[in-house]
Amino acid sequence: MYTSKISGLGYYVPENVVTNDDLSKVMDTNDAWIQERTGIKERRHIKKGDGNSTSIMGVKAAEIALERANLTTDDIDFIVFATLSPDMYFPGGGVRVQDMMNMSTVPALDVRNQCSGFVYAISVADQFVKTGMYKNVLVIGSENHSGGLDMTTRGRGVSVIFGDGAGAAVVTRSEEKGSGILSTHLHSEGAHAKELSLEGPSTEHWVPEIIAENPQEDIPYYPYMNGQFVFKNAVVRFSEVINEGLQANNLSAADIDMLIPHQANLRISQFVQKQFQLSDDQVYNNIQKYGNTTAASIPIALTEAWEAGKIKKGDLVVLAAFGSGFTWGSAIIRW
Ligand SMILES: CC(C)(COP(=O)(O)OP(=O)(O)OC[C@H]1O[C@@H](n2cnc3c(N)ncnc32)[C@H](O)[C@@H]1OP(=O)(O)O)[C@@H](O)C(=O)NCCC(=O)NCCS
Repeated sequence: MYTSKISGLGYYVPENVVTNDDLSKVMDTNDAWIQERTGIKERRHIKKGDGNSTSIMGVKAAEIALERANLTTDDIDFIVFATLSPDMYFPGGGVRVQDMMNMSTVPALDVRNQCSGFVYAISVADQFVKTGMYKNVLVIGSENHSGGLDMTTRGRGVSVIFGDGAGAAVVTRSEEKGSGILSTHLHSEGAHAKELSLEGPSTEHWVPEIIAENPQEDIPYYPYMNGQFVFKNAVVRFSEVINEGLQANNLSAADIDMLIPHQANLRISQFVQKQFQLSDDQVYNNIQKYGNTTAASIPIALTEAWEAGKIKKGDLVVLAAFGSGFTWGSAIIRW
């Protein structure tokens, strides 16, 4: 068995900044409500004509990660692409990235686990690298939320939270024992699938059916979120899965150098921080700038924290996520 490590990180966010005040011009909301409930001050939205898409942003993040790993596309054996907002209904973003980056016929896998997508994708990469099947796996999380949000007052409970962006990591084979990705822990609970979901278009809600049922509305095309139910489940599952990861490695909260929680809501991150008695320096949050970028949030935050010198060799880094499905997971990494 090999070990696996993260050898390169990168992220990309669109230039277009959308502040809370900007949102209050198109829907009945305000800066105070959004900041108080979520901590978000602004987010990035793709602008029509700026050339971005979920896959294109993924490529931009991936190029940076590859360069930092001192690798080229020829070195990549496998692409794992996590998103809930693919360019097309099918095929997924992985094959589009493979094409745009002029890669050989390497396999490309799409992960559909929403806010937990990146942790699931890292776990997939980790298993393939540890078993020796692949040497370098390109893991991408990318989201174009803005294209699919209800930007009217009707959608304000959801739309103010989400933003666009992409992050990428290269997972590479290593032989250094006791370092790199130590373990990953994944869970799901489909009983709550509808509590945070987008139902149509899908095989249960084909377009003609949606139009027939909602002649004047387009609700099934927009995400639905039972905010308070999601919040209550998130704080419990975040804590459980971080504890599970720590225990699996005979570690405790006192060993954590950096926790990178999925940027769901600053209040959720703060709740988790308090539970594990971590200082502000031990938790990295950037939801204030980017909103919730779902599968992209952890790789963007991880990259920023690493760029800022907040993650050093030997540090214990914990990634944790919770989201639609419900799905949740953690990754315990000795940097
Ligand atoms: C979404 C969330 C911020 C809403 O906060 P909340 O305190 O639960 O607020 P509620 O949904 O109960 O709404 C309270 C009021 O604010 C209103 N409201 C909702 N969105 C609003 C907005 N953007 N601006 C202003 N008012 C808003 C509601 O209509 C409601 O008004 P009412 O009391 O007159 O009916 C919160 O539930 C949350 O963060 N949940 C977790 C979401 C999450 O993390 N999702 C990602 C998971 S990966």
